[in-house]
Amino acid sequence: MTDDNSKFTPRVFSGIQPSGGLTLGNYLGAIKRFVDMQEAGSHETIYCMVDLHAITVWQDPADLAKNTRELAAGYLASGIDPEKSILINQSQVPEHAQLGWIFNCVARMGWMKRMTQWKDKAGKNSENASLGLFGYPTLMAADILVYHATHVPVGEDQKQHLELTRDIAAKFNHDYGVDFFPITEPVIEGTATRIMSLRDGSKKMSKSDPSDMSRINLTDTADDIAKKFRKAKTDPEPLPETVDGLENRPEARNLVNIYAALSDQSADQVVAEFAGQQFGQFKPALVDLAVAKMGPIGDEMNRLMQDPAEIDRLLARGAERAREITAPILQQTYDIVGMVR
Ligand code: AMP
Ligand code: TRP
Repeated sequence: MTDDNSKFTPRVFSGIQPSGGLTLGNYLGAIKRFVDMQEAGSHETIYCMVDLHAITVWQDPADLAKNTRELAAGYLASGIDPEKSILINQSQVPEHAQLGWIFNCVARMGWMKRMTQWKDKAGKNSENASLGLFGYPTLMAADILVYHATHVPVGEDQKQHLELTRDIAAKFNHDYGVDFFPITEPVIEGTATRIMSLRDGSKKMSKSDPSDMSRINLTDTADDIAKKFRKAKTDPEPLPETVDGLENRPEARNLVNIYAALSDQSADQVVAEFAGQQFGQFKPALVDLAVAKMGPIGDEMNRLMQDPAEIDRLLARGAERAREITAPILQQTYDIVGMVR
């Protein structure tokens, strides 16, 4: 099987779980890049709230609905344009789950057991984890392949799941003797594929961190943003002349990366601009930049969330458009597998 995807429409798919709260990590590592790909115009772009993935761990029903609309608002406020991209909620496009079942019959137990996210999330208590949590990556493969998506922008943490997606596509194509599913390319690039906690440069910034000081939330006020960056852990050294000087300085490196991603520069450019300055000088510049970029997004999110019916209308329309792509691909899959129509 080759990686020749040239027969497929260039198409981007990515998703985020509506499991509560969006962080600067989600924004820089995912949503901002989704917007950039939408604007580049070289691919069709499809972006998703993966509510079926969210319930692999317990979600209070009222919270799930609220978080789904909030994530939709986050996408829209950040610049996802529902005319240019298809914006959907996963459970509204049933072909995802339907293809997911087929892939449960393609993926092997051994492949699934090697997934580090499963091992991390299930931990010592794996007997008590949901079967859905174990099967999470096959549904993710279905999310992508039910569109024949060729490219998937994600953060570093999703790399292994995308390798599994490629393995599932290749095994399906091989077992059924077809060249039906593309071998999707992950797009993990830029300075923001791993934004770290503001309190501990060895941990990724996460909505599940118990300390709110460890992260910037998309809905944080300007005061919150200023306070969190002011208190962010750093070291006493000034900023170096080149990025090499940031080695073994994870907290410093992280703040430089955040500045770089927010200002669409490379880390090298940022370091060149601030070389020799102390964090006492760099941090206020970072705060100004972050407030200027994030403030309007938070405000727009809050505005959009005042009108949930409008969000629901947009999602219904997104699902309709999505199904024009997914229904024929699922039907062809069923035909290949030998399911009688
Ligand atoms: P999650 O919130 O874990 O569902 O992640 C949604 C998307 O945001 C995925 O593409 C992740 O890779 C990305 N992401 C989450 N946290 C970070 C982070 N700290 N740095 C960069 N990307 C992240
Ligand atoms: N697993 C991804 C995460 O936790 C979310 C996700 C589900 C996804 N399906 C996807 C990402 C398909 C990209 C493509 O971040």
